[in-house]
Amino acid sequence: MQPVSRRDWLRLSGLALASLSLQQKLSATESLAEQPFMPLPGNPMARLSSNENPYGPSERVKKAIIDKMDVVCRYPFSYQDELLQAIADWEGVSKDHIVLTAGSTEGLKIAGLTLGWKGGEIIAPDPTFNSLMVYAEQFGAKIHKIPVTPSLDHDLVGMAAKINENTKLIFVCNPNNPTGTLIPENDLRSFCKQAAEKTTVFVDEAYFDFITTPDYPSMVELVKQGLNVIVSRTFSKVYGLAGLRMGYLVANPVMASKLIANRVAFVGTVGMVAAKEALADKAFYAFSLLKNKEAKDHIYATLDSLGLVYMPSHTNFVFFKPKKELGAFNKELEKWGVQAGRPFPPLIEWSRISTGTMEEMQQFRIAMQKIYS
Ligand SMILES: Cc1ncc(COP(=O)(O)O)c(C=O)c1O
Repeated sequence: MQPVSRRDWLRLSGLALASLSLQQKLSATESLAEQPFMPLPGNPMARLSSNENPYGPSERVKKAIIDKMDVVCRYPFSYQDELLQAIADWEGVSKDHIVLTAGSTEGLKIAGLTLGWKGGEIIAPDPTFNSLMVYAEQFGAKIHKIPVTPSLDHDLVGMAAKINENTKLIFVCNPNNPTGTLIPENDLRSFCKQAAEKTTVFVDEAYFDFITTPDYPSMVELVKQGLNVIVSRTFSKVYGLAGLRMGYLVANPVMASKLIANRVAFVGTVGMVAAKEALADKAFYAFSLLKNKEAKDHIYATLDSLGLVYMPSHTNFVFFKPKKELGAFNKELEKWGVQAGRPFPPLIEWSRISTGTMEEMQQFRIAMQKIYS
């Protein structure tokens, strides 16, 4: 066989890429041609599958990113302190409580690894956001999944009952993904306090900003009291920076250093600059919450008009029962230009739809009307 020169390789791979994108274009055009409703050109799918914020990043954040582009030839360390300080001020703790992570997913994974390593037992609700458990299991952790109650709430009694001397971590997701449920304040506080006497409590607060219950507490308040609690937060949701991969953990300084030791890499300058500006941009934060409420009300109205059951949500998504087999339902939605969340076993009768722009919400409404007509 003739060796392929670099020039030939570039030409061949260019051709392959061109034909692949042509195929993709053709199949997208074909499926659009079948639809009486034409979604926006160039944006055929309303992506309501991943709980993103379609309005981000804010103009201020974009400007901050562009202003710092020239320095990405340098390693990012000098920007770290400024962001750590900004987050520490926002959370009301000192900098040594904060662990910067690549999205909160890295925070979940390093906590799972640090505590679940080699046979540590982890207790978690089911279903929930599983990154921590899946990763820890790969490193030898044993996972106890405690089904949510019939009202789709965390079974806190069942979870507490499962704690034993091998339990290294108990995972709470509040509000929970995919159910959108919020644990009542007093139940949450007393559960975390009691469990933290026996094991490490991890509270995933990815959707905390969307909670509208007045004065609802972040479990960072327990970290401040010196309890064995770790809280994760993210810049992917209300701040609209999912693609930049920025998140952080709040933990007592001893635990924070253990977690830092297990980080895989470190976050980059652009992400850090963006996150710092996002924290300061209160106008965009308020705007995002307002738009999320508007979109969520629209989803509720669509589901109400079709008589479909849903969970009132404390997040930027709604969990509802389509009364159809989920695989077929998702395919139908896609046909009408809407991408919904994946199935969340064991609750396979439920579907999860994220909030989007109002145009996307209308796309969802039209899709649903077509499917149920
Ligand atoms: C509950 C929960 N935690 C964490 C994450 C991870 O988000 P990220 O890694 O973008 O911070 C998600 C993402 O959807 C989530 O739903």
